[in-house]
Parts: sequence; structure tokens; C-alpha cells
Amino acid sequence: MTAPLVTLVQGSSRGIGLQFCKALLLRKPNTVVIATCRSPEGAMDLEALRSQDPHRLHVLKIDVTQESHIEAAANYVGDKFGRLDLLINCSGMLHPSGRGETSLKDVTMQGLAETCATNAFGPLLMGKHFGKLLQKGTGAGHQSPDVKLQHAGVLANISAKTGSITANDLGGWHSYRLAKAALNMATRNLAIELGRGKNRVICISLHPGNVDTQLSRPYHKNMKDLMSTEQCVDKLMNVMDGLNIEDSGKFYNYEKVLLPF
Ligand SMILES: NC(=O)c1ccc[n+]([C@@H]2O[C@H](COP(=O)([O-])OP(=O)(O)OC[C@H]3O[C@@H](n4cnc5c(N)ncnc54)[C@H](OP(=O)(O)O)[C@@H]3O)[C@@H](O)[C@H]2O)c1
Repeated sequence: MTAPLVTLVQGSSRGIGLQFCKALLLRKPNTVVIATCRSPEGAMDLEALRSQDPHRLHVLKIDVTQESHIEAAANYVGDKFGRLDLLINCSGMLHPSGRGETSLKDVTMQGLAETCATNAFGPLLMGKHFGKLLQKGTGAGHQSPDVKLQHAGVLANISAKTGSITANDLGGWHSYRLAKAALNMATRNLAIELGRGKNRVICISLHPGNVDTQLSRPYHKNMKDLMSTEQCVDKLMNVMDGLNIEDSGKFYNYEKVLLPF
């Protein structure tokens, strides 16, 4: 029996992150999923999933704004598995109020700081602490037959098209736009630093589309093409399964259309 694929979903209590855990367990039978969230005791859907498959799903606490949680989880994964094949950063918030700012008068230091910490700073620190384990990763289950395109682990940051500076024609949502633009910069920097040497990690940003979750709920009335979490994650997993090292540092949507930063 080959060694299991070791995967970690950060921000997995609900929404897209929770669905990633379900899909990884279902689609990749020889996979261990480490699901992290800030309050495991309150994450009932995740706990129900864990109780169905306690050998393959491990739940750890990470509030992504707390570097000590990230470091402790990286030590746990290092001690138990010695490597990481796939890391998906899902944590996100529009704004602590639950709604993006529509005007400058709504912008506050606290709103900016919390939104950026959750969407961008935490995911970058995940790269800092899990980078070495990803460099020992074996390619997230898919590897190009061309040696030049092969890679070690995969780090996927769930970003948003709203964070594209080029595509911003509407303004508003100051904290979220800033945070996702910063996350995209983190992706590029991670791709450069973890892409050096022999064991190159693929680092990408992914736009999941408009997805029916708690985060997007206040805006569903105006949203076209709303997808379920199942539809979205199915598409994102297809994108991830087809990656090679030349994709690293890029920003793709759920259909692998390249998006501008
Ligand atoms: N839904 C969409 O249409 C859409 C569109 C574009 C991008 N996205 C992105 O997709 C990702 C997932 O969002 P979602 O739509 O699934 O929304 P969601 O259902 O609201 O889930 C957000 C997740 O982030 C977690 N989180 C928040 N703060 C955290 C922290 N400090 N530490 C760890 N986890 C934290 C939440 O955990 P708690 O349960 O602890 O709060 C929850 O699991 C986000 O990055 C979001 O920006 C979503």
C-alpha cells in the first residue's frame, strides 16, 4: 500500500473549506485530511464528518490570526506525517460586520486589520510554517510525466476576483479587496521562495466563483451564477488536479481561466 496523501484544509468549519474536507475524503480514498478551524468544539458539521471517518480526518485548532496555533499545528503534522502534500487556505471574511464597506466613511483600522489578518496575513504565515513540509510533499496525487514540470506539495490560497486590482471597476469593499490583493501578493512571493531548488512547491490563488455560503449570503439576491459548495469544490479540485509547476504564482478561477492580479 502506498503512503497516504497528506492534505490540510485551513478554515474548514463550514462553507467551501468544509466541502473541501468532504470531497478530499470521497475523491481520494488514500488520503488523510487535517481539518483546521478556530473553534473545533463549535464546528458541529466538521465533528460529524470526523466521527464518520476518524482514522482519515484529524481536526486541529488554528485561529489563523494566531501564529502560535499555526506553529503548533505544523509541529503536529511534522511529527506525525513528516510531510504535507496539499495545503488549502480557506479562511476568509468580508468584514467583521459581515458586509463590505460601501464607502470610505465605513472604513476603520479595526475592520481593515481583522479582515487582512484572516484573509492574507494568516495564510502567508501558514506558508511560513508549513513550507518545509510542503517541500517534502509528493505532488498532491498528480504529477506530470514530464520531469521538468514535476513538483513537491501544492499550496492553494482561496482568493477572490474582487481582489484583482485590474478588474476593479466598482470600488467599495475596501477591506476585502485590500486583503485579497495582499493574499495574491503572498501567493506570488510564496511561489518564488518555495519554488527554489529541487523540491518546488506550487503556490496558487484560486477564485471560487459566487458560492452559496454564509459569507456571500447578504448578497445572494444580486448574484448571478450562484454555485453550491459541492459544484464549486468539484471544479476547484479539477483545477488543482491538473496543475504543474508552470502554474505556480498564478491566479486562476474555478475553470482554470487565468485572472489578472
Ligand atoms: N462564497 C463566495 O461567494 C466566495 C467568493 C469568493 C471568495 N470566497 C472565499 O472563499 C473562502 C471560504 O469562504 P466561504 O464562502 O466558505 O465562507 P464561510 O462559509 O463564511 O467560511 C469562512 C470560513 O473562514 C473561517 N474563519 C474566519 N476567521 C477565521 C480565523 N481567524 N481563523 C480560522 N478560520 C477563520 C470561518 O470559521 P468560523 O466558523 O470559525 O468563523 C469559516 O470556516 C474565503 O476565503 C472567501 O473569501 C468566497
